[in-house]
Amino acid sequence: MLETLKQEVEQLRSAAESECISAGSSKQCEALRVKYLGRNGLVQPLLHALKGVPSEHKAAAGKLVNELKNELQQRLEQTLERLKRAEQDLQLGREALDVTLPGRPLPAGRLHLITQVLEELYGIFGEMGFQVFQTREVEDDLMNFQLLNIPPDHPARDMHDTFYTTTPGVVLRTHTSPGQIHLMRQRCPEPIRAVLPGKCYRFEQTDASHEWMFYQIEGLVVGQDITLADLKGTLRAFVRRTFGAEREVQFRCSYFTFTEPSMEVAMSDGRGGWLEILGSGMVHPVVLKNGGYDPQRYTGFAFGMGVERVAMLKYGIDDIRQFYANDLRFLQQF
Ligand code: FA5
Repeated sequence: MLETLKQEVEQLRSAAESECISAGSSKQCEALRVKYLGRNGLVQPLLHALKGVPSEHKAAAGKLVNELKNELQQRLEQTLERLKRAEQDLQLGREALDVTLPGRPLPAGRLHLITQVLEELYGIFGEMGFQVFQTREVEDDLMNFQLLNIPPDHPARDMHDTFYTTTPGVVLRTHTSPGQIHLMRQRCPEPIRAVLPGKCYRFEQTDASHEWMFYQIEGLVVGQDITLADLKGTLRAFVRRTFGAEREVQFRCSYFTFTEPSMEVAMSDGRGGWLEILGSGMVHPVVLKNGGYDPQRYTGFAFGMGVERVAMLKYGIDDIRQFYANDLRFLQQF
């Protein structure tokens, strides 16, 4: 009886040994574990058979089968480890990093043309002693209109069709001029020489020179003895620095409720036409007063310039809608 068991154990041992040697993957090794040691595996009948072994041989028989079980367990674990390591080596070999390969170039980003032009304008006005002052894009009716001398039923509102928010009286600003009031109230009674850049919004029928969202850069100078000659001199210096001395420029009479007198500047577009780039004038006494300054003692000038229009003239762009159409073929040129 013991002899037969010995033979069976030996057979299983050598069969398992040769199968472990020829196993080619960790998956196959797992299948072998189930085949030999699983609940219905080949070792199981030997364990059952122990019950029928006469008691004088029981100890020896039990030892034989248990040794076989432990040995197989150990053998299978070693095989699994060996196969896993081989598989890992293979995978690492496949993913090897060749540090001598040339790098893939990353697509380089760049500043949007309007950002570039704004930075250039800060530089030009900075040389003339202007500080840059950031103000808000969301205003109330009081700031955007009333304190700038535009009462609720004034026809000047027709030119500023507005995006109203769901909060009554709160609007997306239609121009950077409300920044004048914020700045004056903050600085009064100090003199001011500042530019106020930012986005403006108008419920606008878009065309080649009008967008519903566009940038303006507001200029504000307040002090004693500031005159229209200072305004003209500043604007002339700006045009000369930005476009060169040759570029033709027109100063035209205009009307704004918040300046008196008022004037517009247009520039030759190089195709026989003129493009208006800014509105300007001497700060209206009522606006000075709303900002906290005594109009008997202080005067000032202000202008509001369309930044896309400046960029169009400088770079020969004939349609404002190209700036925000996100067409890389356009944007990558600058
Ligand atoms: C104003 O917005 C006044 N706040 C300017 C001003 C400031 C006058 C200070 C006096 C003192 P106007 O609506 O004309 O004015 O706009 C000024 C400039 O913004 C225009 O000359 C133009 O260059 C630009 N602009 C106006 N509307 C648009 C638009 N829809 N799209 C692109 N640019 C615009």
